[in-house]
This record gives sequence, structure tokens and C-alpha cells, in this order.
Amino acid sequence: MFQYLVGKEGAKALGYDPAVIETAPAQFFESSCGVGNPFSLGMIKPGSTLLDFGCGAGFDIFVASKLIGENGRVFGIDLTEEMVQKARKNLTLAGVINFEVQKVDSDIIPYDDNFFDMVISNGVINLSPNKEVTFKEIYRVLKPDGKLQFADVMLENELPAKLAGSAEAWSQ
Ligand SMILES: C[S@@+](CC[C@H](N)C(=O)[O-])C[C@H]1O[C@@H](n2cnc3c(N)ncnc32)[C@H](O)[C@@H]1O
Repeated sequence: MFQYLVGKEGAKALGYDPAVIETAPAQFFESSCGVGNPFSLGMIKPGSTLLDFGCGAGFDIFVASKLIGENGRVFGIDLTEEMVQKARKNLTLAGVINFEVQKVDSDIIPYDDNFFDMVISNGVINLSPNKEVTFKEIYRVLKPDGKLQFADVMLENELPAKLAGSAEAWSQ
């Protein structure tokens, strides 16, 4: 049980473009649980090379592909093979051709320095046990004028002990 709206209702509540939501195959929403809308934080230039750090089932890659257009390229990485397979399947079903999704085993991002115009992330950095490495890696792969736009979960107060030790509470 999530503490926030997920799937299609979540995307609507987070202010994603309704026209893009309606053109997205329903399969994206079966496993989509972003916590915010990284696209609301600034413009994405058509033709950009963009990375989704923790791409899940691929909905944010789909949205990015609409914004960057045919001359851009969208990349996704995820820790789990299951989500990588889902993202590839969903994006192919949606007709996206300019994408690449890879499985990673750690916070090390398998791309060269200065490769991306933009990195987005949605509800992932909070899951990383070593945020310093995560941010170093993100800034390593970003071009010097590149941008990071991410949505995430932050604690404002100490968690009650029964939640602090719960892996489920951490991810939901
Ligand atoms: C909230 S979902 C991402 C939402 C996604 N952007 C979408 O469009 O639905 C979180 C995903 O991040 C992945 N993840 C968690 N830690 C990660 C890490 N260090 N590197 C890459 N992926 C990670 C999880 O496997 C999960 O699929």
C-alpha cells in the first residue's frame, strides 16, 4: 500500500501533460510510482541526450522522448533486470525508437564523462545508500552546462522506530 497516488492517477495528480498520459500505453502505469514530476522543473530542449537514473517501467523515458523529439536520445538505467525488461517492452510498444535501457549493479553510471545534456530521476536517489557517490556519478556524466532535474522523498522529521526499520515503508 503506497502513501501516495501511483500509476495513471499518480501521473495526473503530479501534473504530467494529460495529452501525453493519454497516449501512453496502459502497461506503463502497472508499475509506475514516481514521487514527483521532474519535467515540471524546467524546459527540456529538443534534441537533448537525457538519462533517467532509475527508469523503472519507463514512463518517464516515454515522456522525455516526446519532449526531446526524434533528434534526441533517451537512456535509462535500473538496478533490477525485471524493470529493465519491462521498460524495453513498454517503450517498444509505445513506438519509441531512440532509447537505450541498461541494467546496473551499483551507483556507477555506465556512460562516459560529459555525455548527457540532462539527467532526471524520480523517487530513486532516496533509495541510494551512498548518495555522495550517486551525485558524483550524475555530475560526472553531465556535460558542464548539463542539468539535473529530480523529484524525491525527503525526511523533515525523525521517523517513528517501527517505520525507520521497515524496508517496505522505505520504498512505499
Ligand atoms: C520510483 S521508480 C522510478 C520511476 C520511473 N522513473 C518511472 O518512470 O516510473 C524507482 C526505480 O529505481 C530503481 N533503482 C533504485 N535504486 C537505483 C540505483 N541506485 N540505480 C538505478 N536504479 C535504481 C528501482 O529498481 C526502481 O525501478
